[in-house]
Amino acid sequence: MTAHIHPSILSADFANFQSEFATISLADAIHVDVMDGHFVPNLTFGLPVVRRLVEIAELPIDVHLMIENVDTLATGYADTGAESVTFHQEASTNPVKLAREIKSTGAKAAIAVKPGTNLDFVLDNLNEFDMVLVMTVEPGFGGQAFMESMMEKVRLARSEISRLGLNVRLQVDGGIDQVTIGRASAAGADTFVAGSSIFSKAQRNEEILLLREIANRSFQS
Ligand code: DX5
Ligand code: ZN
Repeated sequence: MTAHIHPSILSADFANFQSEFATISLADAIHVDVMDGHFVPNLTFGLPVVRRLVEIAELPIDVHLMIENVDTLATGYADTGAESVTFHQEASTNPVKLAREIKSTGAKAAIAVKPGTNLDFVLDNLNEFDMVLVMTVEPGFGGQAFMESMMEKVRLARSEISRLGLNVRLQVDGGIDQVTIGRASAAGADTFVAGSSIFSKAQRNEEILLLREIANRSFQS
């Protein structure tokens, strides 16, 4: 396993995405949080902005949709050329159908669960997804404290991915920093979203290298 680090631009300067992207060039992908003010109590940007971000980015774009009506809206984001589109299980009436639609565009499909949602559905349908996102904060805002109690879900997902021998990435998002990345990696996560802990640093690429090294060292399958 090689840990992937996905900086979340929720903590970047929204007026200067292009120059912000240049500061995180050693990342594996750029995590883009789409929030609609309904599914979560915060509002960021939508399809036209994401389309431009995909165009200007030299790295793959990992879109995290925190929106309602995702059954009809997600494929538009997949059509932008984003590498992956993550939608919330809680917002979809038919996650398997939606994942298949996303994959038919060539994008990878990922399913996310909020802290209060158990993994029953995800584990029963693991082979339908390219990635599972276990939220380690309540979605909506950057800079919140990592929820250690979510590590049980990460361990559960990792053991099932290993048991079935699937090529499914296991992502965590929320409160990831130099300390918590080791705990999440030890629980079996392999893909790490970090917003405030990267963008608060002057040397962001150095922070990315450090986070990746800690995760690689701590990983347990
Ligand atoms: C929260 C978002 C995250 C957020 C993480 O709802 O999904 O991607 O940017 O921010 P940090 O890393 O600051 O917790
Ligand atoms: Zn996110």
